[in-house]
Amino acid sequence: MATERASTLADPSLPPEVLAEMERLNEEAAPLHIWLRTRANAPQKSPWHRGGDESATTIPAEAYTVRPPPPIYRPAPYLWKWTDIEPYLHQIAEIAPLEFTDRQQFLLLNPGLGGALRVTNTIRVAVSIYKPGDDAPTHMHTPNASRTILSNAGGYTTVDGEICDANRGDLILTPNGTWHGHGNDDADPVIWMDVLDWPLMEQLDCIWIEEEDPAKAANAAGPSKAFSKRHFGSGGMVPSFTPTNRGVGEGSSPLMHYQGTDIRSTLEDLAGEEGSPYEGIQIDFTNPVDGSPVFTTLGYNAQLLRPGEQTLPCRQTASTLYCCIEGRGYTEIAGQRYDWEKNDIFIVPNHLWRRHVNLDESANAILYGVTDAPLLQKLGHFRSQGRTQSGDVVELAG
Ligand SMILES: [Fe+2]
Repeated sequence: MATERASTLADPSLPPEVLAEMERLNEEAAPLHIWLRTRANAPQKSPWHRGGDESATTIPAEAYTVRPPPPIYRPAPYLWKWTDIEPYLHQIAEIAPLEFTDRQQFLLLNPGLGGALRVTNTIRVAVSIYKPGDDAPTHMHTPNASRTILSNAGGYTTVDGEICDANRGDLILTPNGTWHGHGNDDADPVIWMDVLDWPLMEQLDCIWIEEEDPAKAANAAGPSKAFSKRHFGSGGMVPSFTPTNRGVGEGSSPLMHYQGTDIRSTLEDLAGEEGSPYEGIQIDFTNPVDGSPVFTTLGYNAQLLRPGEQTLPCRQTASTLYCCIEGRGYTEIAGQRYDWEKNDIFIVPNHLWRRHVNLDESANAILYGVTDAPLLQKLGHFRSQGRTQSGDVVELAG
């Protein structure tokens, strides 16, 4: 685990004083369970669909070294307070700007997972900042990834050439095998939460990364702005003439950009309905073509808790990552209370009972969730249970 972290910290070519400052800052931030870095992940292997058989002869001998099996780690419930962690983003951006680094971000480390760069055994979370003028190289990889926009406006992600402007509350997908890049042409920094199924792909020995040839990219005509929304953003209506597969991966949503304003208005329009006793008013983000989860591995949702609303306890075989987009409240996980407010991020590990409470008696709260339930459903291992008002345990439909 230590090797995994060390390989991402800082580029050794950085000036020694910058390296030293990053080391110092990282030590200071360690009690917050975050890991500061300025380097993107190095490719672990070549893309399988590039080149011939030579990859079979280039596997280093040490890849076959027999190692003792790793201990079994279980994710713990944990909440990262935004007010604690956000200052480190600005410090990284100051010390090691993107001009000579790959990333300005920190990764969240679940304290139950032995220092691994993951918040559950399937999910990695980073929080990134891109300052005005930043332009990160375009690349693609096997892990699915998403951006949940936490700053108000400014910045963008490109997905297969489609420019997705980043506004607060937006969910931008970069499915496996799509070319994607990030940048900021605006006046204010953009800050977002990156979520990836990286640890899962890592365990499946399925990670590769490819950098795009900048000369080739400059000459390639990308789709126009809002391409995916124009084609797939009207519920229940999809064109029959457009290829739905984006990139070289399979099974992902062709709609890349779910806009925060649409998400909020959809939730608010439903707020007068009864909803679910376990989730309040919850919507799933789906592949508009077939209604499946946006990724084969991870499902995304948003939920609105009405003023003072308290949900009933529920537990699942899946783990869920939450980010508070609006409001204040708490989630009780395995009997312990985790208070959240704007931009706080927290983990409800698999198998643990949890219930949500909106503490505000006069305002809604909105949580975004990411769950590995789709993966468990495909494996035949998803189960969900709830407690009724009288305390009986009931099986809930997946
Ligand atoms: Fe990426």
